[in-house]
Amino acid sequence: MDIPKQTLGSLAMVILLFAGIILVYHWNSSFSNEFVLTVKEPLCKQSNLTTPNIEANGDGLDTALAKASMGNKTVIIAVVNKAYVDQDVESDTTMLDIFLGSFWLGEGTRSLIDHLLLVAVDQTAYDRCQFLKLNCFKLETDGVDFKGEKIYMSQDFIKMMWRRTFFLLEVLKRGYNFVFTDTDVMWLRNPFTRLSKNETEDLQISTDAYLGDPWLEKNPINTGFYFVRSNNKTISLFETWYGQKDKAIGKKEQDVLFNLIKSGIIKDLGLRVRFLNTLYFSGFCQDSKDFREVITVHANCCRSITAKEVDLKAVLRDWKQFRRLEANSTINTRWTMHNQCRQSWGRPVKVKG
Ligand SMILES: *[C@@H]1O[C@H](CO)[C@@H](O)[C@H](O)[C@H]1NC(C)=O
Ligand SMILES: *[C@@H]1O[C@H](CO)[C@@H](O)[C@H](O)[C@H]1NC(C)=O
Ligand SMILES: *[C@@H]1O[C@H](CO)[C@@H](O)[C@H](O)[C@H]1NC(C)=O
Ligand SMILES: *[C@@H]1O[C@H](CO)[C@@H](O)[C@H](O)[C@H]1NC(C)=O
Ligand SMILES: *[C@@H]1O[C@H](CO)[C@@H](O)[C@H](O)[C@H]1NC(C)=O
Repeated sequence: MDIPKQTLGSLAMVILLFAGIILVYHWNSSFSNEFVLTVKEPLCKQSNLTTPNIEANGDGLDTALAKASMGNKTVIIAVVNKAYVDQDVESDTTMLDIFLGSFWLGEGTRSLIDHLLLVAVDQTAYDRCQFLKLNCFKLETDGVDFKGEKIYMSQDFIKMMWRRTFFLLEVLKRGYNFVFTDTDVMWLRNPFTRLSKNETEDLQISTDAYLGDPWLEKNPINTGFYFVRSNNKTISLFETWYGQKDKAIGKKEQDVLFNLIKSGIIKDLGLRVRFLNTLYFSGFCQDSKDFREVITVHANCCRSITAKEVDLKAVLRDWKQFRRLEANSTINTRWTMHNQCRQSWGRPVKVKG
Protein backbone atom coordinates (compact mmCIF):
# COMPACT_ATOMS: atom_id res chain seq x y z
CA MET A 1 0.00 0.00 0.00
CA ASP A 2 3.08 2.10 0.04
CA ILE A 3 3.35 2.29 -3.73
CA PRO A 4 0.05 4.09 -4.50
CA LYS A 5 0.87 6.61 -1.80
CA GLN A 6 4.20 7.30 -3.39
CA THR A 7 2.64 7.55 -6.84
CA LEU A 8 0.05 9.91 -5.47
CA GLY A 9 2.82 11.91 -3.88
CA SER A 10 4.85 12.15 -7.06
CA LEU A 11 1.70 12.96 -9.02
CA ALA A 12 0.99 15.79 -6.61
CA MET A 13 4.59 16.91 -6.98
CA VAL A 14 4.31 16.91 -10.78
CA ILE A 15 1.05 18.88 -10.67
CA LEU A 16 2.53 21.31 -8.23
CA LEU A 17 5.59 21.70 -10.40
CA PHE A 18 3.43 22.37 -13.46
CA ALA A 19 1.29 24.84 -11.59
CA GLY A 20 4.44 26.47 -10.39
CA ILE A 21 5.86 26.76 -13.87
CA ILE A 22 2.62 28.20 -15.21
CA LEU A 23 2.43 30.62 -12.30
CA VAL A 24 6.03 31.72 -12.70
CA TYR A 25 5.53 32.14 -16.42
CA HIS A 26 2.41 34.24 -15.91
CA TRP A 27 3.87 36.29 -13.15
CA ASN A 28 6.97 36.79 -15.19
CA SER A 29 5.14 38.01 -18.27
CA SER A 30 2.83 40.29 -16.37
CA PHE A 31 5.78 41.52 -14.38
CA SER A 32 7.77 42.32 -17.45
CA ASN A 33 4.77 44.11 -18.95
CA GLU A 34 4.41 46.17 -15.86
CA PHE A 35 8.09 46.76 -15.76
CA VAL A 36 8.02 48.15 -19.27
CA LEU A 37 5.05 50.37 -18.49
CA THR A 38 6.39 51.88 -15.33
CA VAL A 39 9.98 52.23 -16.30
CA LYS A 40 9.46 53.68 -19.76
CA GLU A 41 8.07 56.95 -18.45
CA PRO A 42 10.79 57.79 -15.97
CA LEU A 43 13.36 56.88 -18.62
CA CYS A 44 11.98 59.63 -20.85
CA LYS A 45 12.00 62.02 -17.94
CA GLN A 46 15.42 61.08 -16.68
CA SER A 47 16.54 64.68 -16.74
CA ASN A 48 16.45 66.49 -13.41
CA LEU A 49 14.51 69.28 -15.01
CA THR A 50 11.54 67.03 -15.61
CA THR A 51 9.27 67.92 -18.47
CA PRO A 52 6.26 69.52 -16.84
CA ASN A 53 2.73 68.53 -17.59
CA ILE A 54 0.39 71.36 -18.38
CA GLU A 55 -2.19 69.18 -20.14
CA ALA A 56 -3.41 68.02 -16.75
CA ASN A 57 -4.96 71.43 -16.18
CA GLY A 58 -5.30 72.37 -19.82
CA ASP A 59 -8.89 73.55 -19.70
CA GLY A 60 -8.03 75.78 -16.77
CA LEU A 61 -5.39 77.47 -18.87
CA ASP A 62 -7.70 78.09 -21.81
CA THR A 63 -10.28 79.61 -19.50
CA ALA A 64 -7.73 81.78 -17.73
CA LEU A 65 -6.27 83.03 -21.02
CA ALA A 66 -9.67 83.78 -22.52
CA LYS A 67 -10.69 85.72 -19.42
CA ALA A 68 -7.55 87.87 -19.30
CA SER A 69 -7.29 88.41 -23.03
CA MET A 70 -7.78 91.67 -24.89
CA GLY A 71 -9.89 91.52 -28.04
CA ASN A 72 -6.80 90.85 -30.14
CA LYS A 73 -5.82 87.69 -28.22
CA THR A 74 -3.14 89.47 -26.22
CA VAL A 75 -2.43 88.97 -22.51
CA ILE A 76 0.06 90.23 -19.96
CA ILE A 77 1.78 87.44 -18.04
CA ALA A 78 3.72 87.56 -14.78
CA VAL A 79 4.94 84.59 -12.73
CA VAL A 80 4.90 84.79 -8.93
CA ASN A 81 5.97 82.60 -6.05
CA LYS A 82 5.65 82.88 -2.27
CA ALA A 83 8.71 85.05 -1.85
CA TYR A 84 7.11 87.67 -4.11
CA VAL A 85 3.70 87.75 -2.45
CA ASP A 86 4.25 87.10 1.24
CA GLN A 87 5.63 89.64 3.71
CA ASP A 88 8.60 88.99 5.93
CA VAL A 89 8.38 90.00 9.56
CA GLU A 90 10.59 93.04 8.90
CA SER A 91 9.16 94.17 5.58
CA ASP A 92 6.08 96.27 5.03
CA THR A 93 5.43 95.33 1.45
CA THR A 94 5.98 92.67 -1.21
CA MET A 95 7.27 92.71 -4.74
CA LEU A 96 3.79 91.94 -6.03
CA ASP A 97 2.33 94.92 -4.14
CA ILE A 98 4.97 97.26 -5.58
CA PHE A 99 4.32 95.84 -9.05
CA LEU A 100 0.56 96.34 -8.75
CA GLY A 101 1.17 99.77 -7.23
CA SER A 102 2.89 100.82 -10.44
CA PHE A 103 -0.24 99.99 -12.46
CA TRP A 104 -2.16 102.33 -10.17
CA LEU A 105 0.41 105.15 -10.29
CA GLY A 106 1.23 104.79 -13.97
CA GLU A 107 -0.29 106.74 -16.84
CA GLY A 108 -2.99 104.76 -18.63
CA THR A 109 -2.01 101.52 -16.91
CA ARG A 110 -4.89 100.93 -14.51
CA SER A 111 -7.15 99.18 -16.99
CA LEU A 112 -4.32 96.86 -18.02
CA ILE A 113 -4.72 95.00 -14.74
CA ASP A 114 -7.75 93.27 -16.26
CA HIS A 115 -5.46 91.72 -18.87
CA LEU A 116 -2.79 90.61 -16.44
CA LEU A 117 -2.65 86.87 -15.85
CA LEU A 118 -0.72 86.03 -12.69
CA VAL A 119 0.83 82.60 -12.87
CA ALA A 120 1.34 81.22 -9.37
CA VAL A 121 3.95 78.51 -8.90
CA ASP A 122 2.95 77.66 -5.33
CA GLN A 123 -0.17 77.67 -3.17
CA THR A 124 0.61 80.86 -1.21
CA ALA A 125 1.12 82.83 -4.42
CA TYR A 126 -2.14 81.45 -5.77
CA ASP A 127 -4.06 82.28 -2.58
CA ARG A 128 -2.67 85.82 -2.56
CA CYS A 129 -3.62 86.28 -6.22
CA GLN A 130 -7.18 85.13 -5.56
CA PHE A 131 -7.40 87.34 -2.51
CA LEU A 132 -6.54 90.32 -4.72
CA LYS A 133 -9.20 89.17 -7.21
CA LEU A 134 -6.81 89.17 -10.12
CA ASN A 135 -6.68 86.72 -13.02
CA CYS A 136 -4.85 83.76 -11.53
CA PHE A 137 -3.48 80.51 -12.87
CA LYS A 138 -1.87 77.84 -10.72
CA LEU A 139 1.07 76.23 -12.45
CA GLU A 140 1.61 72.77 -11.02
CA THR A 141 5.04 71.21 -10.93
CA ASP A 142 5.40 67.78 -9.41
CA GLY A 143 7.91 67.46 -6.64
CA VAL A 144 9.49 70.89 -7.01
CA ASP A 145 9.23 73.52 -4.32
CA PHE A 146 9.29 77.00 -5.78
CA LYS A 147 8.23 78.72 -2.55
CA GLY A 148 11.36 80.46 -1.32
CA GLU A 149 13.35 83.25 -2.87
CA LYS A 150 15.40 81.95 -5.72
CA ILE A 151 18.81 83.50 -5.49
CA TYR A 152 20.12 84.54 -8.87
CA MET A 153 21.62 81.54 -10.69
CA SER A 154 20.95 79.02 -7.94
CA GLN A 155 19.81 75.57 -9.10
CA ASP A 156 16.20 76.32 -8.16
CA PHE A 157 16.30 79.73 -9.82
CA ILE A 158 17.30 78.08 -13.09
CA LYS A 159 14.69 75.37 -12.72
CA MET A 160 11.96 77.97 -12.19
CA MET A 161 13.11 79.91 -15.25
CA TRP A 162 12.84 76.83 -17.45
CA ARG A 163 9.47 75.96 -16.03
CA ARG A 164 8.19 79.36 -17.06
CA THR A 165 9.68 79.07 -20.57
CA PHE A 166 7.76 75.82 -21.04
CA PHE A 167 4.57 77.45 -19.83
CA LEU A 168 5.00 80.41 -22.18
CA LEU A 169 5.53 78.05 -25.10
CA GLU A 170 2.18 76.53 -24.23
CA VAL A 171 0.54 79.97 -24.26
CA LEU A 172 1.93 80.66 -27.73
CA LYS A 173 0.69 77.27 -28.93
CA ARG A 174 -2.79 78.26 -27.82
CA GLY A 175 -2.65 81.27 -30.09
CA TYR A 176 -2.11 84.08 -27.59
CA ASN A 177 0.32 86.95 -28.00
CA PHE A 178 1.65 88.13 -24.71
CA VAL A 179 3.73 90.64 -22.88
CA PHE A 180 5.85 88.78 -20.38
CA THR A 181 6.83 90.90 -17.42
CA ASP A 182 8.81 90.17 -14.30
CA THR A 183 7.16 91.62 -11.21
CA ASP A 184 10.23 93.79 -10.60
CA VAL A 185 9.24 95.80 -13.67
CA MET A 186 7.37 99.03 -12.91
CA TRP A 187 4.67 99.84 -15.46
CA LEU A 188 4.70 103.65 -15.54
CA ARG A 189 3.01 103.99 -18.92
CA ASN A 190 1.04 101.71 -21.20
CA PRO A 191 3.66 99.77 -23.21
CA PHE A 192 1.26 99.18 -26.10
CA THR A 193 1.60 102.88 -26.92
CA ARG A 194 5.31 102.32 -27.58
CA LEU A 195 5.59 98.73 -28.80
CA SER A 196 5.47 98.36 -32.55
CA LYS A 197 2.08 97.40 -33.94
CA ASN A 198 3.63 95.98 -37.08
CA GLU A 199 2.58 92.36 -37.17
CA THR A 200 5.74 91.29 -38.96
CA GLU A 201 7.65 91.97 -35.74
CA ASP A 202 7.56 88.63 -33.94
CA LEU A 203 9.43 89.53 -30.78
CA GLN A 204 10.17 92.85 -29.10
CA ILE A 205 12.49 92.36 -26.17
CA SER A 206 14.00 94.61 -23.53
CA THR A 207 17.75 95.07 -23.16
CA ASP A 208 20.15 95.58 -20.27
CA ALA A 209 21.92 98.19 -22.36
CA TYR A 210 20.78 99.55 -25.69
CA LEU A 211 23.48 99.72 -28.35
CA GLY A 212 21.68 102.22 -30.57
CA ASP A 213 20.18 99.98 -33.26
CA PRO A 214 16.84 98.18 -32.74
CA TRP A 215 17.83 95.33 -35.10
CA LEU A 216 21.36 94.77 -33.82
CA GLU A 217 21.55 91.21 -32.53
CA LYS A 218 24.41 92.09 -30.20
CA ASN A 219 22.06 94.11 -27.96
CA PRO A 220 22.23 92.34 -24.58
CA ILE A 221 18.68 91.06 -24.09
CA ASN A 222 16.76 90.89 -20.86
CA THR A 223 13.95 88.35 -20.72
CA GLY A 224 12.27 90.25 -17.86
CA PHE A 225 10.09 92.14 -20.31
CA TYR A 226 9.13 91.29 -23.88
CA PHE A 227 6.22 91.17 -26.28
CA VAL A 228 5.88 88.10 -28.45
CA ARG A 229 3.33 87.34 -31.12
CA SER A 230 1.99 83.84 -31.49
CA ASN A 231 2.90 82.30 -34.83
CA ASN A 232 4.78 79.30 -36.21
CA LYS A 233 8.10 81.08 -36.04
CA THR A 234 7.82 82.15 -32.43
CA ILE A 235 6.55 78.70 -31.43
CA SER A 236 9.66 77.22 -33.09
CA LEU A 237 11.80 79.75 -31.27
CA PHE A 238 10.38 78.82 -27.88
CA GLU A 239 10.61 75.11 -28.69
CA THR A 240 14.25 75.45 -29.63
CA TRP A 241 14.88 77.58 -26.57
CA TYR A 242 13.21 75.13 -24.21
CA GLY A 243 14.90 72.23 -26.00
CA GLN A 244 18.24 73.55 -24.78
CA LYS A 245 17.46 73.16 -21.11
CA ASP A 246 19.36 69.91 -20.60
CA LYS A 247 22.32 70.98 -22.69
CA ALA A 248 22.64 74.26 -20.86
CA ILE A 249 23.57 73.04 -17.40
CA GLY A 250 24.15 75.95 -15.06
CA LYS A 251 23.04 78.53 -17.62
CA LYS A 252 19.90 80.53 -17.18
CA GLU A 253 17.35 80.64 -19.97
CA GLN A 254 18.17 84.26 -20.80
CA ASP A 255 21.77 83.37 -21.61
CA VAL A 256 20.60 80.42 -23.63
CA LEU A 257 18.34 82.64 -25.73
CA PHE A 258 21.15 85.15 -26.13
CA ASN A 259 23.43 82.37 -27.36
CA LEU A 260 20.76 81.13 -29.78
CA ILE A 261 20.53 84.67 -31.17
CA LYS A 262 24.31 84.88 -31.44
CA SER A 263 24.36 81.62 -33.36
CA GLY A 264 21.88 82.95 -35.89
CA ILE A 265 18.45 81.63 -34.89
CA ILE A 266 16.74 84.89 -35.91
CA LYS A 267 17.82 84.40 -39.51
CA ASP A 268 17.33 80.64 -39.43
CA LEU A 269 13.69 80.94 -38.39
CA GLY A 270 13.06 84.10 -40.40
CA LEU A 271 12.14 86.04 -37.27
CA ARG A 272 11.89 89.77 -36.92
CA VAL A 273 13.17 90.76 -33.49
CA ARG A 274 13.21 94.33 -32.23
CA PHE A 275 15.50 95.18 -29.34
CA LEU A 276 13.88 97.76 -27.11
CA ASN A 277 15.52 101.04 -26.26
CA THR A 278 16.25 101.67 -22.56
CA LEU A 279 15.10 105.26 -23.13
CA TYR A 280 11.58 103.78 -23.03
CA PHE A 281 12.09 100.38 -21.41
CA SER A 282 14.44 101.42 -18.67
CA GLY A 283 16.31 99.46 -16.04
CA PHE A 284 18.83 99.73 -13.24
CA CYS A 285 21.60 98.53 -15.57
CA GLN A 286 21.02 101.55 -17.80
CA ASP A 287 18.61 104.27 -16.68
CA SER A 288 16.35 105.99 -19.17
CA LYS A 289 17.74 109.39 -19.94
CA ASP A 290 14.31 110.99 -19.96
CA PHE A 291 11.41 110.65 -17.54
CA ARG A 292 9.11 112.07 -20.19
CA GLU A 293 9.70 109.03 -22.38
CA VAL A 294 9.92 106.20 -19.91
CA ILE A 295 7.42 103.33 -20.17
CA THR A 296 8.76 100.67 -17.80
CA VAL A 297 11.58 100.43 -15.23
CA HIS A 298 13.14 97.06 -14.48
CA ALA A 299 15.17 96.31 -11.35
CA ASN A 300 17.77 94.41 -13.38
CA CYS A 301 21.43 94.28 -12.36
CA CYS A 302 20.19 93.50 -8.86
CA ARG A 303 20.57 90.36 -6.82
CA SER A 304 18.03 90.14 -3.99
CA ILE A 305 14.34 90.82 -3.56
CA THR A 306 14.93 93.05 -0.52
CA ALA A 307 17.30 95.31 -2.45
CA LYS A 308 14.89 95.47 -5.38
CA GLU A 309 12.00 96.39 -3.13
CA VAL A 310 13.90 99.32 -1.59
CA ASP A 311 15.16 100.67 -4.90
CA LEU A 312 11.85 100.18 -6.72
CA LYS A 313 10.00 102.07 -4.01
CA ALA A 314 12.43 104.92 -4.74
CA VAL A 315 11.52 104.65 -8.44
CA LEU A 316 7.84 105.08 -7.63
CA ARG A 317 8.68 108.06 -5.40
CA ASP A 318 10.67 109.61 -8.25
CA TRP A 319 7.76 108.96 -10.59
CA LYS A 320 5.24 110.62 -8.29
CA GLN A 321 7.58 113.57 -7.93
CA PHE A 322 7.90 113.81 -11.70
CA ARG A 323 4.14 113.69 -12.20
CA ARG A 324 3.73 116.49 -9.70
CA LEU A 325 6.29 118.71 -11.38
CA GLU A 326 5.35 117.63 -14.88
CA ALA A 327 3.61 120.94 -15.64
CA ASN A 328 7.00 122.65 -15.49
CA SER A 329 8.84 120.80 -18.21
CA THR A 330 12.05 122.67 -17.49
CA ILE A 331 12.54 120.72 -14.31
CA ASN A 332 14.58 117.63 -15.05
CA THR A 333 13.78 114.94 -12.52
CA ARG A 334 16.68 112.55 -11.89
CA TRP A 335 16.45 108.94 -10.82
CA THR A 336 17.45 108.21 -7.26
CA MET A 337 20.59 106.04 -7.19
CA HIS A 338 19.90 102.32 -6.96
CA ASN A 339 22.17 101.89 -4.01
CA GLN A 340 20.69 98.75 -2.47
CA CYS A 341 20.93 96.95 -5.79
CA ARG A 342 24.46 98.11 -6.41
CA GLN A 343 25.48 96.77 -3.04
CA SER A 344 23.50 93.55 -3.42
CA TRP A 345 26.34 91.98 -5.40
CA GLY A 346 29.02 92.48 -2.80
CA ARG A 347 27.41 91.08 0.32
CA PRO A 348 25.87 87.79 1.35
CA VAL A 349 22.21 87.74 0.41
CA LYS A 350 19.56 87.46 3.08
CA VAL A 351 17.17 84.95 1.64
CA LYS A 352 13.41 85.50 1.79
CA GLY A 353 10.75 82.84 2.01
C1 LIG B 1 20.49 65.19 -10.95
O1 LIG B 1 20.18 64.88 -9.62
C2 LIG B 1 21.14 64.07 -8.99
C3 LIG B 1 20.64 63.69 -7.60
O2 LIG B 1 19.60 64.52 -7.19
C4 LIG B 1 22.46 64.82 -8.92
O3 LIG B 1 23.44 64.02 -8.32
C5 LIG B 1 22.89 65.19 -10.33
O4 LIG B 1 24.05 65.99 -10.28
C6 LIG B 1 21.80 65.95 -11.03
N1 LIG B 1 22.16 66.16 -12.41
C7 LIG B 1 22.06 67.33 -13.01
C8 LIG B 1 22.41 67.33 -14.43
O5 LIG B 1 21.68 68.35 -12.44
C1 LIG C 1 -4.59 94.93 -28.49
O1 LIG C 1 -5.71 95.68 -28.10
C2 LIG C 1 -5.41 96.64 -27.10
C3 LIG C 1 -6.72 97.22 -26.64
O2 LIG C 1 -7.52 97.57 -27.73
C4 LIG C 1 -4.46 97.68 -27.68
O3 LIG C 1 -4.18 98.66 -26.72
C5 LIG C 1 -3.20 96.99 -28.08
O4 LIG C 1 -2.32 97.89 -28.70
C6 LIG C 1 -3.48 95.83 -29.02
N1 LIG C 1 -2.28 95.05 -29.14
C7 LIG C 1 -1.65 94.92 -30.28
C8 LIG C 1 -0.42 94.13 -30.24
O5 LIG C 1 -2.05 95.39 -31.32
C1 LIG D 1 5.78 96.27 -41.30
O1 LIG D 1 7.16 96.12 -41.50
C2 LIG D 1 7.50 95.66 -42.79
C3 LIG D 1 9.00 95.43 -42.80
O2 LIG D 1 9.69 96.57 -42.42
C4 LIG D 1 7.06 96.68 -43.83
O3 LIG D 1 7.37 96.21 -45.12
C5 LIG D 1 5.56 96.88 -43.70
O4 LIG D 1 5.15 97.90 -44.59
C6 LIG D 1 5.18 97.25 -42.28
N1 LIG D 1 3.75 97.23 -42.17
C7 LIG D 1 3.09 98.26 -41.65
C8 LIG D 1 1.62 98.10 -41.57
O5 LIG D 1 3.62 99.27 -41.28
C1 LIG E 1 1.69 77.02 -39.16
O1 LIG E 1 2.03 76.05 -40.12
C2 LIG E 1 0.99 75.16 -40.42
C3 LIG E 1 1.49 74.10 -41.37
O2 LIG E 1 2.85 74.22 -41.59
C4 LIG E 1 -0.17 75.91 -41.01
O3 LIG E 1 -1.23 75.02 -41.27
C5 LIG E 1 -0.64 76.95 -40.02
O4 LIG E 1 -1.64 77.73 -40.59
C6 LIG E 1 0.53 77.84 -39.64
N1 LIG E 1 0.09 78.72 -38.60
C7 LIG E 1 0.41 79.98 -38.58
C8 LIG E 1 -0.09 80.77 -37.42
O5 LIG E 1 1.09 80.51 -39.41
C1 LIG F 1 5.92 125.83 -12.16
O1 LIG F 1 6.87 126.85 -12.00
C2 LIG F 1 6.29 128.10 -11.63
C3 LIG F 1 7.37 129.15 -11.59
O2 LIG F 1 8.61 128.62 -11.35
C4 LIG F 1 5.59 127.94 -10.28
O3 LIG F 1 4.96 129.15 -9.93
C5 LIG F 1 4.54 126.83 -10.39
O4 LIG F 1 3.95 126.62 -9.13
C6 LIG F 1 5.16 125.56 -10.89
N1 LIG F 1 4.13 124.56 -11.12
C7 LIG F 1 4.15 123.36 -10.60
C8 LIG F 1 3.05 122.45 -10.94
O5 LIG F 1 5.05 122.99 -9.84
